[in-house]
Formats: sequence, C-alpha cells, structure tokens
Amino acid sequence: MNYENLIAGTRNRILYLTINRESKLNALNKATLEELHQAVSGAAEDPGTGGIIITGSGQKAFVAGADISEFSSFSPEQGRQLAEEGHSRVFDLIQNCPKPVIAAINGFALGGGLELALACHIRVAAEHAKLGLPEVTLGLIPGYGGTQRLAQLVGRGKALEMILTADMISGAEAHAFGLVNHVVPGDELMTKAEEIMTRILSRSPMAVASAIRALNAGYEAGVNGYEAEIREFGNCFGTADFSEGVSAFLEKRKPDFLRK
Ligand code: COA
Repeated sequence: MNYENLIAGTRNRILYLTINRESKLNALNKATLEELHQAVSGAAEDPGTGGIIITGSGQKAFVAGADISEFSSFSPEQGRQLAEEGHSRVFDLIQNCPKPVIAAINGFALGGGLELALACHIRVAAEHAKLGLPEVTLGLIPGYGGTQRLAQLVGRGKALEMILTADMISGAEAHAFGLVNHVVPGDELMTKAEEIMTRILSRSPMAVASAIRALNAGYEAGVNGYEAEIREFGNCFGTADFSEGVSAFLEKRKPDFLRK
C-alpha cells in the first residue's frame, strides 16, 4: 500500500512504519493519523506481519506532536471530536493491536508524538531523544491518552510534573522514570528495537496476542483484569500453539509456531 505521509515496508515479518513529514518534524495531521489507522488495522489482519516498529523520518524527530496548524481555529466540539477519533482510530487501536508494536523514538517525541509512543507496547529511545507533553504551553491538555497512559508508566506525581511544567526530558531520564524500556545511542536504535521484536516473533503469536489482551484489560474501566487473565489463560489450552509449545518442550526442541 502506498501512503503520502508514511513509509511502510515489511522485512522478516516486521512492518516498519516511518512517519514521513520531516519538514514538519513528523507532526501528526489528520491524513497521517488516517494512514496510521489503515496501516495498523491492515497489519493486524495480515498473516505476513508479526509485529510493527514505528519511527519518525530523519534524525531530529520521532513526532513533534499533533499538527498545531490544523486545529488552531477549532471549536470545543471539534476539539472533542478530534480527541475521540484519535483515541479510537489510532491510539487505542495500537494499544489493542494483537501484534506487538514497538516505538523507536529517534528524536523529539512531544505531545501527540509522545502519546503515540505511549500507546505502543514497548518503547526504545535514542539518547538524544527529547520527550514531553507541552500542551499546556498552548492552552491545551494532552488529548490522545497522555494524561492516562503517562501516569500508568511513570506514576501520578511524575506525570503531573511533566504535564504541568511542559518540560522535556532526555532519553536517559525517560529510561530512569520507566517511560521507555531502553535507551541506546542513536545509531543502535533500530537494532535494539529489532532485537526485541525478533525475540517476541519467536514466541507463540496466539499467546502474545492473548497476553496483550489480558494486560490491557486491567486498564479498562469496569473490567476485572484478573478475570480477563483467567479467561485468556483457559483459552490458550486446546490451541495449536499450545500443543506445539508443550510438545517442543517435552521433545527438547525449539517450537515452530509458524509451521503450516
Ligand atoms: N505542528 C505543526 N507543525 C510543527 C509542529 C507541530 N506540532 N512541530 C513542528 N512543526 C513545524 C514547524 O512549524 C516548522 O515548520 P516551518 O518550517 O514550516 O515553519 C518545522 O516543523 C520545524 O520546526 P521548528 O519549530 O522550526 O524547529 P525547532 O528545531 O526550532 O524546534 C520543536 C523544534 C520541537 C521544539 C518545536 O518545533 C516545537 O515546539 N514544536 C511543537 C511541539 C508541541 O507543542 N507539540 C504538541 C502539539 S499538541
């Protein structure tokens, strides 16, 4: 599929999505969000895709936020709609993707850009990355899940400090706060993301999807995560991946979850 604002390519079952608006520091305009929706929902259905790595084009930015020029004259209703559509069509879609999604943060991850990384399952940052939620400098608050997902990762106190001061933090600080899983020199970013993805892709895709569902359930209002885990655990039994995983262990061989 050809996109205007994304570069998409699959190698070794990994779909690489590069947000490609370098002259605007990869800011997320409506068209880019729509393309992300298409690419992620397509990948979820595509048997040839095992996982997704999202990054930004160029050395400077992962994504410098939602495209400010697009919403400068929005009414409250248009603002609410922008956030609602963003949540359901992109950010929740990524969080609930049955295949692992890794953000490779190669520079500025601000506002909607940090929220995009927060929606991914795993984050790897380059040392030179700058991360923050600067919305209050614009008279706004984060609207793509940032107030919720940031607090889940770094705790309420640090999340409030980042959101209220609008200050950016470095890749190393983000790592110290648990906001990113790994921080590496810029030239090792993709290798690190690929290394993690490759390990996940050697595991049972059925169990990986099930684990994502069980874990996410705990963050859904009105859903009991423990009950979701029990249900998901039970459902694993009787699957082909379970037979293969257990047989491989007993036969002292590596499981082949992609067998025909
Ligand atoms: N929306 C729209 N355009 C953006 C953007 C955004 N979120 N972030 C950067 N851009 C554009 C700039 O307008 C500029 O475009 P131009 O060359 O046509 O004028 C281009 O990207 C380069 O940005 P610039 O500000 O010149 O780069 P810089 O190195 O001086 O500063 C930042 C980098 C990231 C500090 C700065 O661009 C910035 O603060 N961006 C906005 C961050 C933000 O508030 N995000 C949250 C949005 S809700």
